[in-house]
Amino acid sequence: MLSILVYINMNLKNYLYKKIIKATILSGIYDTSYISLRHSNKEVFGEYQINGIIKIANKLNKTPTFIAKNIIHNLNIKNILYKIKIVKPGFINLFIHRLWLANQAELMFNSINFNIKKQTGTVIIDYSSPNIAKEMHVGHLRSTILGDTAVRISKFLGYKVIKVNHIGDWGTQFGMLITYLETNNILFNKKITLENLEKYYCLAKKEYKKNKEFEKKTKICVVKLQKKNVKYYSIWKKITKITINYNQNIYHLLNITLKKKNIVGESFYNDKLSLVVNDLIKKNIATKNNGSIIVFSQKFKDKNNKNLGVVIKKKDGRYLYTTIDIACLKYRCNELKAKNIIYYVDSRQKQHFDQVYEISLRAGYIPKNVKIKYHFFGMILNENNHPFKTRNGDNIKLLYLIHKVIKRTKKLVIKKNNKKSLKKINHITNIIAIGAIKYYDLSKDRKINYVFNLDKMLSFEGNTALYIQYNYARIKSIINKSKKYKFNQKNSLIITNGLEAKIIFKTLQFEEIVVRSTKQGKYHILCEYLYNITNLFSKYYQKYPIIKIIKNEIGQNRLKISILVSRIIKQSLNILGIKTVDKI
Ligand code: ARG
Repeated sequence: MLSILVYINMNLKNYLYKKIIKATILSGIYDTSYISLRHSNKEVFGEYQINGIIKIANKLNKTPTFIAKNIIHNLNIKNILYKIKIVKPGFINLFIHRLWLANQAELMFNSINFNIKKQTGTVIIDYSSPNIAKEMHVGHLRSTILGDTAVRISKFLGYKVIKVNHIGDWGTQFGMLITYLETNNILFNKKITLENLEKYYCLAKKEYKKNKEFEKKTKICVVKLQKKNVKYYSIWKKITKITINYNQNIYHLLNITLKKKNIVGESFYNDKLSLVVNDLIKKNIATKNNGSIIVFSQKFKDKNNKNLGVVIKKKDGRYLYTTIDIACLKYRCNELKAKNIIYYVDSRQKQHFDQVYEISLRAGYIPKNVKIKYHFFGMILNENNHPFKTRNGDNIKLLYLIHKVIKRTKKLVIKKNNKKSLKKINHITNIIAIGAIKYYDLSKDRKINYVFNLDKMLSFEGNTALYIQYNYARIKSIINKSKKYKFNQKNSLIITNGLEAKIIFKTLQFEEIVVRSTKQGKYHILCEYLYNITNLFSKYYQKYPIIKIIKNEIGQNRLKISILVSRIIKQSLNILGIKTVDKI
């Protein structure tokens, strides 16, 4: 008998997997590591396929069919399956009852949170983290977008999230800039913009390289700044303020949740740096070396195959990026008592974080139960597959890039909506442009580099934001049209054809997808899912009329399915930080 109202309240795949592992053990097979469960890629193979049986059979010197039969015999989910099939050379296909699927979807429909299991605990997410006195550039786009998605998805799953914008607001570059401003008698007034500051900073850097006197002054300035010298500190504060205001503007434009209060920059750790260095010396991890303080790595070698030396304090007293990140990690583990910390950083910083992690671990700053994840990402490239730079070799400014996309989007929107008011056009343009930038990034595996391609980004076809937003608008319009009629929610959802079965099965994978995306910090998994469910649904509404037959039961059922799918699409887009429009 089918136990229809037992909702499993966890992801379906996980539920089945656990049952299969149990059955495997009951069959006398204790090493279950080979067993895996996959979604079947063809309808004839049912919903799921159990893999790994051939390997087990080889190991135990038995036939795969013998092993498969044993597992099936012990499998305690027969009530939800209408067919279990052994397929040569050694797979098991599982076919789930449509009634059971429909009932799970019904329960999902009636729950507020898609019946997703709530997670507990706190997670710190370190992301965006641009440097002060410079405009944000294309290199900060991925960290900002990926990190913010991590924030939204973690919150959705129930985690308490601490967002941190670890801005680069400390170090030699400020000494250079302040020294430059001072030697050239440049005073702060209202007219000074971030663009000016960045220009001065570039000039300062050049001066620092060629002028020994300037270099000396800079170093003295840095040390004084680190000691919070009143004059220098006040200039530094002004520089920081100008940059932060500029960045907040970009966050607002990109629909990023970071607020000023989330800034805990490098400068925050200033008082903790000397303590850390002394502690590392005391613990015999750091040593004096030609006047500076160095930690010799036990894991990494330098060019000469000697243990790599990581400087944590320079001869002249300056501390480094590494020192700050060690103090920061110690603070997060020991003061904030974080159990989960995630960094969204460029893969080119991998070595830096490896060193920070190694030193912090040796110093005992990371308790055993703390999970630290470095979610590295690749670069954004130009059409020629080169890093995205201007002709002079500077990084492309993020604001420039955003405006470029907005400009192109506006043309497209005007073409489709020439009768709308300018205000409305600007509104739609913004949502589409920002959605396109974010989705294009998030739909790529974060580990790989990708080419910034405006045409692909703004295409109505394929796995793009526009495709999803367009179809979402269509579903919403059907749902809105149906509002004139009575909707009988009480009728339990049913599956009446193959396409509905596929759609419902997809809706039941939502939790599994969200959890997997979160674990790996890879949101292209969610994007792919979103694209597939949207695609299935677009086929559905083209094939099966809804409003025309809204008064009968089948029409009502179709409406219910449409509402469920629309909620999933909306929720997924929310997680990705992408807004929707009524009409495109
Ligand atoms: N400020 C750095 C940059 O612009 C990123 C900082 C990442 N976070 C950290 N804790 N180091 O590349």
